[in-house]
Amino acid sequence: MYEFSKAFESPRESPIRALFKHLGQPGMISLAGGYPDPALYDVAGLQEAADRAGRDSRACLDYGATDGTPRMKAAVVRLMAERGCETSPPHVIVTTGSQQAFDLVARVFLNPGDRVLVEQPTYPANIQTLRACQARIGSVRTDKDGLDVDALEETLARARADGALPKLIYTIPTFSNPSGATMTLERRLRLLELAVRHRCLIVEDDPYGGLRFSGEPVPSLLSLTSRVAGSSAWVVHLASLSKIVAPGLRVAWAVAPAEIIHRCQVAKQAADLGSSPWTQGIAAEYLASGRLAAHLRRICAVYADKCRALAAGLRSSLGDAIRFDEPAGGMFIWARLSGGLSADDLLAQAIPRNVMFVPGAGFQVEHPDASTLRLSFATPSLEDLAEASRRLGEALHATQSNRPPSSRP
Ligand SMILES: Cc1ncc(COP(=O)(O)O)c(C=O)c1O
Repeated sequence: MYEFSKAFESPRESPIRALFKHLGQPGMISLAGGYPDPALYDVAGLQEAADRAGRDSRACLDYGATDGTPRMKAAVVRLMAERGCETSPPHVIVTTGSQQAFDLVARVFLNPGDRVLVEQPTYPANIQTLRACQARIGSVRTDKDGLDVDALEETLARARADGALPKLIYTIPTFSNPSGATMTLERRLRLLELAVRHRCLIVEDDPYGGLRFSGEPVPSLLSLTSRVAGSSAWVVHLASLSKIVAPGLRVAWAVAPAEIIHRCQVAKQAADLGSSPWTQGIAAEYLASGRLAAHLRRICAVYADKCRALAAGLRSSLGDAIRFDEPAGGMFIWARLSGGLSADDLLAQAIPRNVMFVPGAGFQVEHPDASTLRLSFATPSLEDLAEASRRLGEALHATQSNRPPSSRP
């Protein structure tokens, strides 16, 4: 009936949101969302921060600057310095979640038909952003060490020869959603070199970097720009308080060359005039309180236990039928079913048994692998993770016995 824009003529739902309708099923244990455990929110610390922020009612109830309140921008600059990245307010824009930050960057760079590369697999809401920009989306494979830079190098060389270089490469190099993988230092340095050689913007999405529970930290691409000549012009870094403090604040930011930030600011005027000064005030006070470090130690310890519990449960209940690498941080286990089983078929048996996860196909823009799935260990309790694994084991047996004999391995 309506003449919608091309990008929204037949919009595709996020594969995660599409599962929301089952969440209300009594007794459901969801391994589907990428949500922090609400029991871990530092409610007392945030309440104190809100009380302090509220004392300056003008600052928190008025419209704020489009690029973020000066106090929040200063807090971001300090936090980024603690993460090994020297930056300054003109290089920072505060956004309504890092989802908005990616949307702004995509809008200021992409015309319909422009090419972009994403990781295979990648975060689906940002695939939606790229589709809304009518970009042509290609993908590069990843493994347990993140983006396969050899494959990227080949893809870029071919694209260069065809006069079809991508304008932008989107990566989640640390504890990726969905793969949980972290790109090695060597690959990061090579990625920066490739960005300089091909004049291609790298968007580094880093909402999970603070959630390391084992192994040694790997520096962000942004912090490594000091080691690769010319690369600081080609990196946009996105970060967020959603996974490390609370997603309800909707406070996140981008760090980028000032020319890019300026254009994102103009795009943000059109999007929402500015993010809420009230939640920025709470966030800035919270960061100034110095509670974040202890909070992170606490939540990482809990997520470590949860990750181990889910990994152990999956191994004991599904055995050889499932394969995965245990992540060193973040919220996700990315797994592959063996023996030709499909994650959709397993999900169809899992939902009536009150457990759910996200099939992996929605995280892949090309040649989706139907055997893949994403399981989040962040929200359920340890007991629920064990029970979820047991139910998945039952669902697996039902899936295997439902298959026609000819398709069994
Ligand atoms: C990789 C990735 N980027 C961005 C986001 C959006 O986060 P925010 O709440 O900051 O908008 C998410 C949320 O799940 C995510 O997993």
